[in-house]
Amino acid sequence: MITVQDHLFVIETKNTSYVFGGGDVPFGIYWGKKLHGEELGMFYTRDCHSSFDPNLSRNREEYGFWDSYSVLESCLKVNYQNTRQLDMRFQGHEIHSHGEKEELVLHFRNSFTPLEADVIYEVYPEYDMIGRSMYLKNEGEPVEIEILKSGSVSIPPLDRYRIRYLKGKWAGESQINDQFLTGGAFTIQSRTGNTGAHFNLAFALDDGTADEEGGRVWFGLLGYSGNWQITLERTSFQDMKVTAGISSFDFSYFLNQGESIRTPVFTVGFTDGGYGEMSRKLHAFEIRHILPQKKTGRVLYNSWEATAFNVRVESQKKLAERAAGMGVELFVIDDGWFGQRNSDHAGLGDWYVNPEKFPEGLGELIRYVKGLGMDFGIWVEPESVNPDSDLYRAHPDWVYRFPGREPLEARNQYTLNLSLPQVKEYILDFMTRLLGENPDITFVKWDMNKTLTDVGAGDTRTDKALWYGHVRSLYEIWEKLRERFPHVEFETCSGGGSRVDLGILRYADQCWPSDNTDAYSRLSIQEGFSLFYAPRIMTAWVTDASLGDRKKYERPISYRFHSAMMGMLGIGADISRLSEEELAQFAQYIALYKELREVIQYGKQYRLSSLRTSPLHAVEYVGEDGGEAVIFAFYQGYRYEAACPRIYPRGLAADGVYQVEGQEAPLHGDTLMYGGIEGNMGGDFDSRLIRLKRIS
Ligand code: GLA
Repeated sequence: MITVQDHLFVIETKNTSYVFGGGDVPFGIYWGKKLHGEELGMFYTRDCHSSFDPNLSRNREEYGFWDSYSVLESCLKVNYQNTRQLDMRFQGHEIHSHGEKEELVLHFRNSFTPLEADVIYEVYPEYDMIGRSMYLKNEGEPVEIEILKSGSVSIPPLDRYRIRYLKGKWAGESQINDQFLTGGAFTIQSRTGNTGAHFNLAFALDDGTADEEGGRVWFGLLGYSGNWQITLERTSFQDMKVTAGISSFDFSYFLNQGESIRTPVFTVGFTDGGYGEMSRKLHAFEIRHILPQKKTGRVLYNSWEATAFNVRVESQKKLAERAAGMGVELFVIDDGWFGQRNSDHAGLGDWYVNPEKFPEGLGELIRYVKGLGMDFGIWVEPESVNPDSDLYRAHPDWVYRFPGREPLEARNQYTLNLSLPQVKEYILDFMTRLLGENPDITFVKWDMNKTLTDVGAGDTRTDKALWYGHVRSLYEIWEKLRERFPHVEFETCSGGGSRVDLGILRYADQCWPSDNTDAYSRLSIQEGFSLFYAPRIMTAWVTDASLGDRKKYERPISYRFHSAMMGMLGIGADISRLSEEELAQFAQYIALYKELREVIQYGKQYRLSSLRTSPLHAVEYVGEDGGEAVIFAFYQGYRYEAACPRIYPRGLAADGVYQVEGQEAPLHGDTLMYGGIEGNMGGDFDSRLIRLKRIS
């Protein structure tokens, strides 16, 4: 519920209150556990400390229009021909209701030119989540935007502030990191044109005491797939302001008369149920309000790690037979099926079927796969081009470059300038042809294997807008494709997990979290991923666990399956080399996954124990009504003849009676939750899958 009294705005969700003062400079008053927000009044207004700090409320600006004075991050800063100052005046507000979502819009208008800003709050009461964004419309002279953020939120005064966030790199994404923030600003960001693997665009903040089970946690995720920035600033006046949005680095955007722009959405939330509850809220919210549809995820086979670029119809047919035999539902061919793509040196951009590898076209394999009872999926990387390609030879001017310079090559490729209408058309055309001519393609893995560099087109006045233009065009393309091909599911991939964010997830059904498919490394990658993103979104393959030719990891089949079953199970191993016995094992695990997948993909997830702090790694998934649960447990670092720790399930009905698979006597939920289950694992790389079923 949203109420407004004088200039006091009170947003109430199921369990939280978000209160701010209005006027020309709205400022945060309270955000956290639900209270009688209307009683807070202007209690927290703090006008002036000294001439050096003339207006302390500005430290908690909800949306900082830069008018010449600010101490902290601003949200909007512009350049007119003769002034850089804005004078945004509050014009009024509107409240709308859209079913499960309420919306509060604050209208502002510049006093000397018709520049209008709507500061938007999308409220999801059931999930305690609020989406923050701003819509800017220019009816006056052209204006250059220099800073454009989605909004700021203020965290109440705490004794200490600890941020939890994800950092990483290619093949080592989503590593959880905790850090106490003292004074000053702390920023996580991407300047590489994509979401990036170095940091994910999400934060969680507590006072240093929250854990998986409890404690107050404030959190937020930005939905954007380009250069981004999240900055947390702590002042000397007990303020902690978090500002998120498009990075101001190398950013500029001209808004001509009649034009408008909307920022990405910065979704924030609060819980006093600790990090576990934060993740469960986010998972449910994403499924309900972010993802394009709710559909049970299919078990897929992907041939990349088996055949790499050598995708030939005959070898793919053999893999498909084996995949179908073990219960795979979706057969995906990866890189290498098009142009002269025999390695990563050539062919990218040439989206015609390679005639040597598929003499009869793709249809032959698609029909074969369908005949085996599986669906068919395909890999594409539309934003990139190899210099050694027909596309590049025909259109060298289609890539980002600075005049007179050759762009940086990474993985032997350049990036296409998606702001050029002809490039956008080219991508839409070939994708439409591919999916239109092959209506049995029902899955697309969309990859992007290079960070953006050389982002220029020869005009320094407008080039800085290309970063943003790339993302906008990308979203437009995805939106059109989803409209045209509603039966096709999309996976977002960027050399592993460099494009995982709530922006692309409005169009994508799932993400590839990492090129690292080693079941052990995946445990921490997946744990970090689960902090902010749902298991339904996270694909995980059982492979031969080799990362290129650098290293081959030896892990038992059971361990590899247990690790990959924790999200959307896929198979990526070279199954042509499996023995009959191994094939049977694969088939058994796939069948088991199908039995469990509703609980895994849509249930509540509990991180019971983590390798970050224990030799036991255990994650539980509980079905909606607590009637069924499954625990994946892994043991690592056996030393000193120590006993394996017990496993304590969560989320069961205390009075319910549960049958633990493989255990004779049924036990009550409370006995299991507080008494625990014997860990019962031996050496390293031992793992278990524990099923619990409520019987009364
Ligand atoms: C990226 C992806 C991989 C695979 C290769 C193909 O690295 O993350 O899964 O598709 O590209 O070139």
